[in-house]
Amino acid sequence: MNITWDAEKYTSDFSFVHRYGNDVTELIDAEAGSTVLDLGCGNGALTKVLQDKGYTVKGLDASRELLDVARKDYPETEFIKADAVNFTLSEPVDVVFSNAVFHWIDKEKQPDMMKCVYNALKKNGQFVFEFGGHGNNRLIHSALSGVFREHGFCYKMPFYFPTIGEYASLLESAGFQVKYALLFDRPTELKGENGMKDWIKMFVKTPFTVIESKGEREEIINQTVEKLRSGLFINGKWYADYVRIRMKAVRA
Ligand code: BEZ
Repeated sequence: MNITWDAEKYTSDFSFVHRYGNDVTELIDAEAGSTVLDLGCGNGALTKVLQDKGYTVKGLDASRELLDVARKDYPETEFIKADAVNFTLSEPVDVVFSNAVFHWIDKEKQPDMMKCVYNALKKNGQFVFEFGGHGNNRLIHSALSGVFREHGFCYKMPFYFPTIGEYASLLESAGFQVKYALLFDRPTELKGENGMKDWIKMFVKTPFTVIESKGEREEIINQTVEKLRSGLFINGKWYADYVRIRMKAVRA
């Protein structure tokens, strides 16, 4: 995942990402004082939630911009700069937790991430996570794909949104035992009248790299937003058609 984040806007306008993550922390079944790694911790907001629950936490992320915010906001907490598909910890932990991260990792790289997690966990350690599941943002990506085509470009889907079956298989191949799995729709309100445009600009970056003209990129976004209006602009508010996959697995 090689993205430069606008950490300030991410934190101010997309705080629902970590707010929804609060529910995911409830799947952790560990005593206070247990060690928890927040994998892909971003701005550290959920790392802090985990810390407030009494866990001994570390956050890990690849983004310098987001880690700068995390270190500024939570100076007492340990944050590590590393890639989720290539990291090691000095000591194994009781729990690896992750929210809204794994859809950024290519399917081919998922086993590398799982291997790192496996090695980072103690025996019987818990792997608890949520990210975009099968069908996530289907309306948004199909609208983008259609408008790209109308402009003569191919829309290359930049995310991995697996089914439960597919992801459970990967976890089992990596040595985990799946204890819990849920795939569910979670329509999510976006902020402001430009909510959809801002969402696309914040999160869908790589498909636009094939388009040289800034004007044409802008036009594609505006046309996509208009295509989406009838389905995702409801009672004066924009919604993103999120689908989540939430799982808990144990290192065997
Ligand atoms: C998600 O959390 O599902 C997500 C966010 C941004 C881009 C793609 C997926």
